[in-house]
Amino acid sequence: PAPKAEATPGGFIKVGQTQDLDKNGRILQTLKGNQKVLVVRDPKNADTLHALNPTCTHQGCPVDWKQDSQDIFCACHGSTYTPDGAVAKGPASEPLESYDIKVEGDAILVKP
Ligand code: FES
Repeated sequence: PAPKAEATPGGFIKVGQTQDLDKNGRILQTLKGNQKVLVVRDPKNADTLHALNPTCTHQGCPVDWKQDSQDIFCACHGSTYTPDGAVAKGPASEPLESYDIKVEGDAILVKP
């Protein structure tokens, strides 16, 4: 089972650990309510993590990370996003919303 998100001071929420990210290729976690976050590691710069709202900006379907192609894909109409959330292929025209992210020790913290 996925570890639960945990609130910390400063508005950051612990969404998992770097080991989970590296084992599964991504972390998909609920921040609060219906608000979710997708955390991925930038394939071009392994020190950089991206925290994105996994809601397609086209018509709101859930997107997910594709490990084989190293991008973010929406199955509804085929929009593709780069790991930083920019549009690689439409019909979406706007980037995914992004959140602040930081790593403390091996804890991954996201500020919605
Ligand atoms: Fe994602 Fe249309 S809702 S491509």
